[in-house]
Amino acid sequence: MRKPIIAGNWKMNKNRKDAEQLITELVPLVKDAKCDVVICVPFTDLDTAVKATKNTNIKVGAQNVHWAESGAFTGEISADMLKEIGVEYVIIGHSERRQYFGETDESVNKRTLKALEAGLKPIICVGETLAEREKGKTDEVVTRQTKAAFKDIPKEELKNIVIAYEPVWAIGTGKTATADDANSTIKVIRDTMAELYCKNCAEETVRIQYGGSMNPKNASELMAMPEIDGGLIGGASLKAEDFSKVVNY
Ligand code: PGA
Repeated sequence: MRKPIIAGNWKMNKNRKDAEQLITELVPLVKDAKCDVVICVPFTDLDTAVKATKNTNIKVGAQNVHWAESGAFTGEISADMLKEIGVEYVIIGHSERRQYFGETDESVNKRTLKALEAGLKPIICVGETLAEREKGKTDEVVTRQTKAAFKDIPKEELKNIVIAYEPVWAIGTGKTATADDANSTIKVIRDTMAELYCKNCAEETVRIQYGGSMNPKNASELMAMPEIDGGLIGGASLKAEDFSKVVNY
């Protein structure tokens, strides 16, 4: 019912030449994927990535988007600018943006609304820090983040949105949430979506990925969990072979 979606998050890696090379290697390796395949690349690689993925099953995403139409926002990129070059997805509220760049639940919501208005598909990230997990606040945190992100977002848009559950302590650390833990927190997020919208929408339409040290070794176990609809892959998306193994889990 819910088609799995595996997205790479290159973060601040790869110049245009590297990007082109990686995509050229990746294309044949993932051409028969049963899931949706997305690569979220740095702004400077977007144009290259859109061209290199033309007529393939790989979609391109950005890693952030501003909420204003245009104007005095030095260093920011608008949703229309992304749309114009052929970008389809955009990561919003990644924990690195929340941690290092002052992203808040409110700004995540504003970015999401604007991205949808421009016809982009947001990948909204939620997840608890280690301190929050140790205090037993995981469910409370992801529920709060989910409710805030979806403020004023109509039900009709749910098909265009992906949620990524990324426990902050599992990102880039080699520590993965156990498949059971990831599954049960994603269930909490799905229940929150059922409360915000409806049970059917949450169960049939809302796709929720897991992210955090997902790699060729653990992908199949995570993907076998009933609540996990895909992955947001950082480190393991930087090599074509590794990423393709996750995609073909
Ligand atoms: P990781 O990153 O796979 O390197 O842990 C995931 C992410 O931050 O999206």
